[in-house]
Amino acid sequence: MLREPGRRCLPPSELGAAPRAHSRYDPGSDAGVVCVAGATIASMAAPRSTFPIPAAFPPELLAPGVGANSAAIATVDAGLVSELLEGAMRRVTVGDHDVLVAHTPAGIVAIDDRCPHMSAPLSIGDLDGCVVACPLHEGRFDLCSGEVVQMPTTGGLDAAGQYHPTWSPAGKEPKVDPPGKKAEARRLTRVRRLRYYPVRIVEGRILVDLPETA
Ligand code: FES
Repeated sequence: MLREPGRRCLPPSELGAAPRAHSRYDPGSDAGVVCVAGATIASMAAPRSTFPIPAAFPPELLAPGVGANSAAIATVDAGLVSELLEGAMRRVTVGDHDVLVAHTPAGIVAIDDRCPHMSAPLSIGDLDGCVVACPLHEGRFDLCSGEVVQMPTTGGLDAAGQYHPTWSPAGKEPKVDPPGKKAEARRLTRVRRLRYYPVRIVEGRILVDLPETA
């Protein structure tokens, strides 16, 4: 049975354990299906055909609090998969938690709707295949692999702590970062790793597992 969007449901522990294999769920299973009150959905684009399966992702990039042994998980109904065509992104808000649901060529992924650089909403960026471009500093991130495709123009630290200098897009003068606190902040800002939330497709709806506290 599928719950309607916006209705409060029970944690999976009260419904029976969901088959959490980190990167992929059984699309036919309803185990663990719960919805959180107040979830709002904003669609951002509407390109091509559908391929409604959850995309695999590196297991080490699973978000904290939604692993197989996590007790407090709430599953959010992120809307109809038929309304999220390939190439489209959707922002789903639960309380103060914004989630990006994107339909990539590899399937559907869910991550925080916060750029891993300085938290801009990726859902208003551009999705090209698996790569989403941030609207703020031109950082580009591969939603299928979790890799940084292009560091932000501001430079800074990558996830491993390696420093990358500022840069300018092709055809523009190289930027010179003036000294001071702002430059230091940019230099010390680390581009975090993407973190994924498990996705299932159940009865045509996209279900995303979030930590219960989200
Ligand atoms: S906030 Fe996204 S690249 Fe800077």
